[in-house]
Amino acid sequence: MRTQVAIIGAGPAGLLLGQLLQKHGIDNIILERHTGDYVLSRIRAGVIEQVAVDLLDEVGVGARMHREGLVHDGTQICVDGARHRIDFKALTGKTVMVYGQTEITKDLMDGRAAVGAPTIYDAQDVALHDFSAERPRVTYRVDGATHEIECDFIAGCDGSHGVARQSVPAGAILSYERVYPFGWLGLLSDTPPVSQELIYVRHPRGFALCSMRSPTRSRYYIQCSLAEDVEAWPDARFWDELKLRLDGEARACLVTGPAIEKSIAPLRSFVAEPMRFGRLLLAGDACHIVPPTGAKGLNLAASDVRYLALALAEHYHEKSAAGLEHYSARALARVWKAERFSWWMTTLLHALPGSAFDHKMQLAELDYLFGSHAAATAFAENYVGLPF
Ligand code: FAD
Ligand code: DHB
Repeated sequence: MRTQVAIIGAGPAGLLLGQLLQKHGIDNIILERHTGDYVLSRIRAGVIEQVAVDLLDEVGVGARMHREGLVHDGTQICVDGARHRIDFKALTGKTVMVYGQTEITKDLMDGRAAVGAPTIYDAQDVALHDFSAERPRVTYRVDGATHEIECDFIAGCDGSHGVARQSVPAGAILSYERVYPFGWLGLLSDTPPVSQELIYVRHPRGFALCSMRSPTRSRYYIQCSLAEDVEAWPDARFWDELKLRLDGEARACLVTGPAIEKSIAPLRSFVAEPMRFGRLLLAGDACHIVPPTGAKGLNLAASDVRYLALALAEHYHEKSAAGLEHYSARALARVWKAERFSWWMTTLLHALPGSAFDHKMQLAELDYLFGSHAAATAFAENYVGLPF
């Protein structure tokens, strides 16, 4: 088999890149380790920036998102029982879209099927070859048989545990990491959300987040220890702990119900540089992770593949290498801004094992955020997404 771009991974980064390349008339094949149903079963992001909304529109898969997604003009932050509102629309003129990653993935899969572009699911033992030379290759196994794809470029969109980044020689890549000493226990339920807007909660018992997927489906998270086992959290225990962290009004409005999904995610900041190695280009969680607090991961994956698709279009249609040469630096400039914001928001809102001084700094920082127009504007600008 031969294609122009072999894409590893059918998460949001791989699928969106595939659609953008189709739009530019560039052939691509996606290889995904899991089944399509498995990919759709992972409950993750919920908040989409305008730039990601625009990209989904650009590739023609935005219609359902505009019908079913919820436009949010602001968010609430609750500190030790008192609620504060950050008005995105008033401060920046922009809003965010609440629409689940699962739905985006499904819309992208349907869009890909509609144009007949190939995705090979259940591809095992994917291996990358010769990406520092002119003719890279990718090998994989399906049903026990080995196959090979010859290509011009390999796009590593295979998430944080993928094979693409690991294929780069250790001396060619630098990584930066911060592991936080806690995780998020998330619960999805078919119950109405506690509020029309998301509520980020800072409480001495730990962070909590009240989010949603629709007017009838809620998503909640609570900060938990890394040693926690999801089996030790029957639904009733989750709801009891959440209630302890909410303000009185939210507690009174909370509707509980059986969990549809419950899982624990560790929190980590991670960046691997650069994002290009010859004809291998990394994008999304394959080369950077943010703690979920700032809702930036999927949005960064979208902005990476926008830069990457433009660079590949320049290569094929204008015979210019400039876009590819600048891809890593352009994408990383945006990545580090999102890393900063996600690290800052995580530090601001979680119960930290630090000193009494750290705790006082957290409160002073929050006081500044709620008391200063400039600080609230900076928060809103980062949350709704910086321009390209
Ligand atoms: P992934 O979604 O991880 O996709 C990678 C794909 O590659 C997977 O399908 C995987 O199966 C496949 N793959 C892996 N290895 C191989 C291999 N060897 N061969 C072939 N295929 C392979 N982001 C936001 O923007 N907003 C939010 O509100 C938000 N909330 C979040 C909440 C939680 C609890 C979590 C955990 C994350 C959240 N994120 C959020 C982050 C977001 O989910 C990720 O950043 C996003 O999924 C990254 O997309 P990706 O395509 O780069 O990687
Ligand atoms: C969701 C996740 C986040 O990390 C966040 O900051 C906001 C919302 C969510 O899953 O709904």
